[in-house]
Amino acid sequence: MADNSQTIYQVPQIAVVGLGYVGLPLAVALAQHYPVIGYDVNIERVKELKAGDDRTDEISRDTLLGSSLALTSDTAELRPVDVFIVAVPTPVDEQKKPDLEALRSASKMVGGALGAGNIVVFESTVYPGVTEGVCGRILEAESGLRSGQDFFLGYSPERINPGDKEHTVDRITKIVAGQTPMVTEQLEAIYGSINSGNIFRATDIRTAEAAKVIENAQRDINIAFVNEIAVIFERLGLCTHDVLDAAGTKWNFLNFKPGLVGGHCIGVDPYYLAHVAESAGLEPEIVLAGRRINDGLSAVITARIDELCKKEDRILVLGITFKENVPDIRNSKVVDLVRQLQASGREIDVFDPLADPLETEREYGIIPVDQPKGLYDCAITAVAHNIFQPQMLYGLLSAGGMVADIKGIWRHEIWPNGIRYWSF
Ligand SMILES: NC(=O)c1ccc[n+]([C@@H]2O[C@H](COP(=O)([O-])OP(=O)(O)OC[C@H]3O[C@@H](n4cnc5c(N)ncnc54)[C@H](O)[C@@H]3O)[C@@H](O)[C@H]2O)c1
Repeated sequence: MADNSQTIYQVPQIAVVGLGYVGLPLAVALAQHYPVIGYDVNIERVKELKAGDDRTDEISRDTLLGSSLALTSDTAELRPVDVFIVAVPTPVDEQKKPDLEALRSASKMVGGALGAGNIVVFESTVYPGVTEGVCGRILEAESGLRSGQDFFLGYSPERINPGDKEHTVDRITKIVAGQTPMVTEQLEAIYGSINSGNIFRATDIRTAEAAKVIENAQRDINIAFVNEIAVIFERLGLCTHDVLDAAGTKWNFLNFKPGLVGGHCIGVDPYYLAHVAESAGLEPEIVLAGRRINDGLSAVITARIDELCKKEDRILVLGITFKENVPDIRNSKVVDLVRQLQASGREIDVFDPLADPLETEREYGIIPVDQPKGLYDCAITAVAHNIFQPQMLYGLLSAGGMVADIKGIWRHEIWPNGIRYWSF
């Protein structure tokens, strides 16, 4: 069928659409082997990248400025392109339903630039069926070309992890799936060039879509399990971290720690899985239970702080990003915690040198302090950034004040000045 009309590009011209946490590192890596143009709708982001400044902290200034990657926010520059790779956000809306708006608008834009024989690969996390059933149709409508005949679809989920300098695009196994065997072969050649051929060919596009969405749903459920046992053990007067250290000596015990689950992936993707299950007439149980438990953890912590602190206590919250050592504040659950603590009228200072203060204020109406000032009655380590050290609290906590250490990072510390310590 369609394969007959398709040729393998030896040196494809590639466009990466969406230059965020996923798109930028991929575009930079591919640019070492192919002519690559990076496109983003955010003009400011493109301007910053052209100046060598990656605010996601994934690519260094030297690497960015030394890369042959071309950067644009002008769709007119997206010709000629052989292979489009789309890595735009796929969040959920207020009802926790998949919000495919960025994907639709990127597909529309690519459809306008599409030529015969082109391949369009999606990297955005979606539920099974979106690449062909949603994006493919938009591409067809915009281009007047037929999917699987005149142009071809592919899906290759991204697995990188913000702030993780070990599992980078060039070191992890990449799943690829094309609409035809020839497209899969093309994707294998392209992605294989940046990770020494470490490619897994999925059966088809829907299988690859499903694989990605369950990777993150599985993580969410595993974290929900430890969050649930953390609440149980706290009631029993046991330290969850000590229990986990002991249980973790078994060869097949899974190493998860309790904590707030935010960010663009783990706290979101299970809803994509739930949505597709519901559209197939099924009520997912464990998937949504995991979400409920993890989203409910901030209320559990607030209740504990309410028991251990007075209403008029000043509280310092360390960290506002969604996880440690990254500047990413998207879907941060620390925000829920701060709002719940503020609701009781307390004065809360948030300190996070990694988060962009303007973005934090714009997104959440929370203005982080430049430096903690005065004495606090309680300090909550919400995010375990390496820059936070226990000694920094010595002069900041009143005598008999409390450290509420959500991640349990300082539980072996000897605290001076009668400082109390709480963790799961
Ligand atoms: N962040 C991660 O670690 C990670 C890991 C695996 C998968 N993913 C998935 O990859 C996708 C992208 O995530 P991200 O973290 O890179 O998002 P991001 O928000 O960091 O970056 C997305 C970029 O796309 C741009 N954009 C939005 N709409 C666009 C459009 N219509 N055309 C062109 N550009 C557009 C934005 O301006 C932004 O720069 C999501 O589906 C996400 O779930 C993310």
